[in-house]
Amino acid sequence: MAKSVKNEQVREITALLKARLSKKRFTHSVNVARAAFMLAERWGADTDKAYLAGLLHDCCKELPFPEQEELMRGGPFEVSEIEWLSKPVWHGIAAASYMHAELGIDDMDILAAARWHTVGHAGMSRLEEIVYMADLISAERTYRDVDHFRKLAHTDLDQAMLEAFQYAITSLLKKGNPMPVCTAEAYNYYLTKKK
Ligand SMILES: [Fe+2]
Ligand SMILES: [Fe+2]
Repeated sequence: MAKSVKNEQVREITALLKARLSKKRFTHSVNVARAAFMLAERWGADTDKAYLAGLLHDCCKELPFPEQEELMRGGPFEVSEIEWLSKPVWHGIAAASYMHAELGIDDMDILAAARWHTVGHAGMSRLEEIVYMADLISAERTYRDVDHFRKLAHTDLDQAMLEAFQYAITSLLKKGNPMPVCTAEAYNYYLTKKK
């Protein structure tokens, strides 16, 4: 694809998101896109794909759950039983469906990076890892360990992913939320990869 076509697509999608999302979520989306671009440069992934997936990863987060559910049912990805029980993770799967059906994005790398950004899975692709981490380290984040994650994401991506899943699983357990099997498998995957 020519560079100008890509730039035009990014401009159109940015305008669409600005109209579709709250100011806070729009800012987050642009920040995740920028963080994903930088991580893609650092880890040798496609920077255009990283930017686009980061920009769109939360595009359905503010939709009512019935609309998210409808998108998920018509989308290109299977949804596990536990994911159906866990509404906070739906928006990633709905985003991939929306990007596919409404925006005509058919690049499975980009769709998968949005689909898995809420739950993760064992054997994540580099682009999936990058969007997952970019979501945790985006510029507006202020949680206690954010600077630690920012550093780690640039120095040791496997360790960053392992600690990210430790963090995600701990918070799921604290809230008493269901844990998708793929999230537990992601944790085990990075744990054994480090050994
Ligand atoms: Fe999200
Ligand atoms: Fe996000």
